[in-house]
Amino acid sequence: MAEKFTIGVLTSGGDAPGMNAAIRAVVRTSLANNMNVIGIKHGYEGLINGEFEAMEARAVGSILQRGGTVLLTSRSKRFMEASGQRDAIRRMNEAGIDALVVIGGEGSMNGAYALSQKGVKVIGIPGSIDNDLWGTNMAIGTDTAMNTIMEAVDKLRDTASSHQRAFLVETMGRNCGYLAVMAGIVCGAEMVLIPEVPVTSEEVATTVEDAYQRGKTHAIIINAEGSGISTTDLAEKIDNMDLGFKTRMTILGHIQRGGSPTAYDRLLASRMGVKAVEALVEGTHGVMTGLRGKGIDFIPLVDVISNKRNVNMEYYHMAKVLAR
Ligand code: F6P
Repeated sequence: MAEKFTIGVLTSGGDAPGMNAAIRAVVRTSLANNMNVIGIKHGYEGLINGEFEAMEARAVGSILQRGGTVLLTSRSKRFMEASGQRDAIRRMNEAGIDALVVIGGEGSMNGAYALSQKGVKVIGIPGSIDNDLWGTNMAIGTDTAMNTIMEAVDKLRDTASSHQRAFLVETMGRNCGYLAVMAGIVCGAEMVLIPEVPVTSEEVATTVEDAYQRGKTHAIIINAEGSGISTTDLAEKIDNMDLGFKTRMTILGHIQRGGSPTAYDRLLASRMGVKAVEALVEGTHGVMTGLRGKGIDFIPLVDVISNKRNVNMEYYHMAKVLAR
């Protein structure tokens, strides 16, 4: 009797809420198609080390609502080298893994592409709070992070208004301003600083003073971590200026990566997990699942890694107009 087709699944890079929902969908869709599934621990690092465990339907019970990743994750330096990739492929062959599903962000898709170039059947699923991947409107985890930011800024606004203060709030996003721009709109920020648009601290000071003069009770400035302006330095600088408002700052940090995934992220993760396995069943690989319009498409990994996702400037301008 022929051996069953075996799919390996791993999560890599920064964890994102909804990764567990994607793992669950990959496992259960594989089982429904009479295939074996092997969970790989610690991302590409575990692939090199052979950290494998068979996954049955019950292994993914009650994980849908949990943040983080039950498969654990890592940023593997060894896997960036050709020797690490070679060892990983050897481990896959030893374990009889026929195809791989990689759930992660930019670095993870680069790794997936490298493997596909070496003949491995691999499918990527975008999972990253940054939403910086080209080829998909949304990555798994971004919506949950957005909601976490919104809740935090709403709370900061309460205290900012009570004390008539300016608040600098730093969001994550690495080199991409997506989270900051969208936070600017949904939190009603007075100004958004993003890597894509250089701004000086003098311009920030002018905005704060202007908000005071226009009778606002507070000024919220969202600073993307990659904007090039240090939140701590900027807060100190403008707090020492006479702008009407005194200034405080909050760096949201890794809080943005945790928490139970929103309904949106659970649904997106489930759809992508199902589609990824269906693609492998049909013989499609070397692609990433991408949300395009209302459907899930398959985007060649080579396009995903060779294109840069830019912030939609329409939203940036919208945030500005709505801050009047
Ligand atoms: O890619 C997700 C992300 O949270 C980025 O927004 C951030 O720059 C980075 O990961 C932080 O990485 P680490 O968890 O390794 O500090």
